[in-house]
Amino acid sequence: MNGDSGMRVVALLMAAGRGERLGGAEPKQFLPLLGRPVLRHAAEALLRDGAVEAIQPICAEAERGRVDSILEGLPALPAVAGGATRQASVLAGLEALAGCAPEIVLVHDAARPVVPAGTVTALLRALERAEGAIPAQPVADTLKRVEDGTVLHTVPREALYRAQTPQGFRFPLLLALHRAAPEGATDDASLLEAAGRPVRLVPGSESNVKITHPGDLERVEADILPRLLPR
Ligand code: CTP
Ligand code: MG
Repeated sequence: MNGDSGMRVVALLMAAGRGERLGGAEPKQFLPLLGRPVLRHAAEALLRDGAVEAIQPICAEAERGRVDSILEGLPALPAVAGGATRQASVLAGLEALAGCAPEIVLVHDAARPVVPAGTVTALLRALERAEGAIPAQPVADTLKRVEDGTVLHTVPREALYRAQTPQGFRFPLLLALHRAAPEGATDDASLLEAAGRPVRLVPGSESNVKITHPGDLERVEADILPRLLPR
């Protein structure tokens, strides 16, 4: 069922972005959180449930050596170069795994340092019955459709969820969909949706923050990590 390596579950760690919304001298995945780079937290979080056998980091060509040393001591494959868009970076990561052909691939944002325990286990369980599975949170706020600063109407939110990562897929399917994909998909699950393949939800978490805007890092450091990690 899987390739020569015998690995069943591998995770792509997406770290080739430039963090333009956050600004600053360094892309956000390299910023320190409790003294260690955000991407190191993300990698350790993926491994915590014990099911991910290897991590495949994807980063800017010039950062490959740095990423390899940040992940030292973890079961990480050598970093590969990403592309100009997240989608291109994911394809580069999937192509790097084509030789070992795992059964399941998880795709995770290196900018998400907190993956609660049990999330990976829940994804793998959901993937026993589906080809894709994603953590998602119900939308809590009332949603308004707005045009030119004026409310048109309230959007019913009962069926609306916010997607997070890691997202899990059958590897051969995700590779085939990415190879055939048009530019512009916002996440990997959307490729399955477009192909009419079922994507299951597992519970997401308010702790699973994607560092995006100034202040997010401080909030994770002060409020979220201290509650989850032994000090
Ligand atoms: N990513 C990637 N390759 C890209 C763009 C993004 O691997 N060409 C990764 C980022 O490193 C990040 C994740 O995808 O871990 C989610 O993307 P996002 O939060 O948008 O990060 P950035 O693109 O770095 O930030 P921004 O959009 O603010 O520039
Ligand atoms: Mg981006």
